[in-house]
Amino acid sequence: MIGRLNHVAIAVKDLVSSTRLYRETLGANVSAPLPQLDHGVTVVFIELPNTKIELLEPLGEASPIAKFLEKNADGGIHHLCYEVEDILAARDHLIGQGARILGTGEPKIGAHGKPVLFLHPKDFNGTLIELEQA
Ligand code: CO
Repeated sequence: MIGRLNHVAIAVKDLVSSTRLYRETLGANVSAPLPQLDHGVTVVFIELPNTKIELLEPLGEASPIAKFLEKNADGGIHHLCYEVEDILAARDHLIGQGARILGTGEPKIGAHGKPVLFLHPKDFNGTLIELEQA
C-alpha cells in the first residue's frame, strides 16, 4: 500500500539557524519559509535527489510540535511521510487493521497541497507517520 518516502520532517527551534546548517554546512537547496497556520508550523523544504527533508518550526501558541521540542531540546526527527495512491482507501484499510488515525480521521491539506493523514505513533514503532496522497 505505501509507496515512496515523500519526506522526513525534523522539528527545529530556530528555522534560520537550521536553514543555514542545511544550506551552508550540508550544501543543500533550501526553500523559502512557508507558514502553515492550519498545521501550527512554519516549514522549509529541502530537495534531495531521492526524497525531501522538511524542517518544522513551531507557529502560534498551540503548535503540535511545541511539546516535542520541550522533550527534544536540540530538535529531532518528528515524522516520516509515505505516499499512498488513494488516501481514503488507505485510511479505511488501516482502520480495518486496528490502526488509529489522529484527529478527526478526515484528511487535511498538507504542505504540498495534497490530502494528508497522521497515524498514531504507538501503533507504528513509536514513529509518527504521515500519509500523503501521491
Ligand atoms: Co510532513
